[in-house]
Amino acid sequence: MEGRFHYYEGYDMKEVTFPERVMYELGIKTLFVSNASGGMNPEFKIGDLMIITDHINFFPEHPLRGKNFPTGPRFPDMHEPYDKQLIAQADAIAREKGIRVMHGVYVGVQGPTFETPAEYAMYHRLGGDAVGMSTVPEVIVARHCGIKVFGVSIITDLGLEGQPVEVSHEEVQVAANKAQPLMTEIMREMIKRN
Ligand code: HPA
Repeated sequence: MEGRFHYYEGYDMKEVTFPERVMYELGIKTLFVSNASGGMNPEFKIGDLMIITDHINFFPEHPLRGKNFPTGPRFPDMHEPYDKQLIAQADAIAREKGIRVMHGVYVGVQGPTFETPAEYAMYHRLGGDAVGMSTVPEVIVARHCGIKVFGVSIITDLGLEGQPVEVSHEEVQVAANKAQPLMTEIMREMIKRN
């Protein structure tokens, strides 16, 4: 896809996750997702790639709310939202290519405001390593469809405790565009090997 539908743009969750429903009907078995996010883990640097190992859903509406789609159970298991084998493979490729990759938990929030210092601190204490405004709804629907998921988050800004800094959409875009080729390199190689 070129871009996505964001909840903050005013789309409802059925619209945000419609592409995953279509891709499921087209027969995809694996979904690769990517996003930009604010890093809260003090080991992270701007421009880092964070392989998403898990997520925390902070969206105010659940994408599976309502009548259950027959693609999966009413109460879907989420014990491995991001495929461990794909993560291991990405790690191996990154090592081979000398690309620095971090691991972490992605917190999905509605936006469109970036976080206040207290919000970054809270999400970090709750177990998040990075926070962003997308991805979680799509991943939930993909998993409900039995689609394996691999996700990478580009750390485009930092929300570190005690170090509040201004964040702008422009700097997010600049950092994302810079790191994107490395992410693409890993994903291309994964596609080749799967
Ligand atoms: N917060 C939320 N969403 C984001 C951020 C952030 O700091 N950076 C990029 N997307």
